[in-house]
Amino acid sequence: MLRIALSKGRIFQETLPLLAAADIFPQDDPDTSRKLILDTNHPDIQLVIIRATDVPTYVEQGAAHLGVAGKDVLMEHGGDGLYEPLDLRIARCRLMVAGKVGHEPPHRRLRIATKYVNSTQRFYADRAQQVEIIKLYGSMELAPLVGLADRIVDVVDTGNTLRANGLEPLETIADISSRLIVNKAAMKIKHQAIHRVITRMQAAIASQ
Ligand code: ADP
Ligand code: PRP
Ligand code: MG
Repeated sequence: MLRIALSKGRIFQETLPLLAAADIFPQDDPDTSRKLILDTNHPDIQLVIIRATDVPTYVEQGAAHLGVAGKDVLMEHGGDGLYEPLDLRIARCRLMVAGKVGHEPPHRRLRIATKYVNSTQRFYADRAQQVEIIKLYGSMELAPLVGLADRIVDVVDTGNTLRANGLEPLETIADISSRLIVNKAAMKIKHQAIHRVITRMQAAIASQ
């Protein structure tokens, strides 16, 4: 059995063509089905549908052998418990610091709202700046508007969400795309099956 962990929405939809190149076709669409395990055209390949932030955990623990996760999620997860053999070049965006348009930094510690606590901590620690981090689980863009924070750290693609809320991008922490991740033990034990998926996906990416 080969189990591949994906999150629904953007990552599932953008991974579909790459799976097709590896001759893997799911029998259901997670955006319409309530199933969490999707069978494929191969009896020995399953897709499991989980939250984007849970994908590294499933793959690291071996509950899934392969997975697709954003570099933002992998940076935040941390550690070296995963192989990351392929940049899939999908779901591209930037992890950024943003704030209210024209808002000057205060004369106290900057308060930063984010779901990326570890990445934010590291970014400011590298420049020896003391900040106060406020952990949120979504809608970070609201925090500066209601005085919860001075800045946010979130992913930005078109910038539409920032603009719609009177915010502006200030600094880029990292360029983000999704990566194929592989469980370390599975890479050895199921090398042939996993290698086949990697090389076929790689060929599809190279031809795009
Ligand atoms: P979540 O429910 O965790 O927000 P998403 O499907 O929105 O899940 O995001 C999955 C991944 O896609 C993120 O980890 C990030 O790498 C990338 N991503 C998030 N938002 C965008 C966006 N607006 N444009 C492009 N890529 C994005
Ligand atoms: C993501 C992210 C930003 C937005 C950025 O949200 O959290 O809010 O996209 O994209 P933009 O620069 O093109 O506007 P998403 O659409 O994933 O919604 P979510 O709150 O459900 O994660
Ligand atoms: Mg999202």
